Amino acid sequence: IKVAPFRRRLLDWYDREARALPWRTPPRSGMRPDPYRVWLSEVMLQQTTVPHAMPYFLEFTRRWPTVETLTAAEDAEVMSAWAGLGYYARARNLLKTARAVAADHGGVFPDTEDGLLRLPGVGPYTAAAVAAIAFDRPANVVDGNVERVVARLHAVETPLPGAKPELKHLAGGLVAADRPGDWAQALMDLGATICRPRAPLCDRCPVAVDCEAFRQGEPDRYPLRLRK
Ligand code: ADE
Repeated sequence: IKVAPFRRRLLDWYDREARALPWRTPPRSGMRPDPYRVWLSEVMLQQTTVPHAMPYFLEFTRRWPTVETLTAAEDAEVMSAWAGLGYYARARNLLKTARAVAADHGGVFPDTEDGLLRLPGVGPYTAAAVAAIAFDRPANVVDGNVERVVARLHAVETPLPGAKPELKHLAGGLVAADRPGDWAQALMDLGATICRPRAPLCDRCPVAVDCEAFRQGEPDRYPLRLRK
């Protein structure tokens, strides 16, 4: 894979096709998104898809438009607003993180991956995603979508979950350091809308030309999975 033209093809596609989502700013607008909204969306999206998370995101940001307002919420209110997103530990972590941002950082999210990682309740995925999307830091943001895209691009024969470190390493070699926030979201949008788990839409894929799995003619064979 020739990395520079690959990056350009995917970012050009994102400039045309980026989904307008309520935690995003348009690509090339020069606007940075609100870190609170990016963080909240990323915590929700570890749990579920964009369409499922959307009404929860809208309700949360209507009731608690800032990290300070969320800090003032009762635990039980937040838990009941979370109901339906599953995995309540995430909602508890959400409050823990919000309270730390308010108490220890004056309500301002740290603007680096390391700083974010030091917040209670923030793990490596969330730190990387918020650093990239909110602050345009060149973090390597790898979720299930990105693992699938990379596994197909490189026709990775190692099965998941063992392939995770290899896929992360390969994804790191692709990051567009000039537009890391758009890059992370371009990969996610590609994974969600084109490079879908089943029946990928390779005829509409801006990077089919770069894709080894496409060349082999069986893109949905990847990523391989260890049979449970
Ligand atoms: N999945 C996880 N984070 C996402 C984001 N910022 N945009 C789209 N899909 C996502």
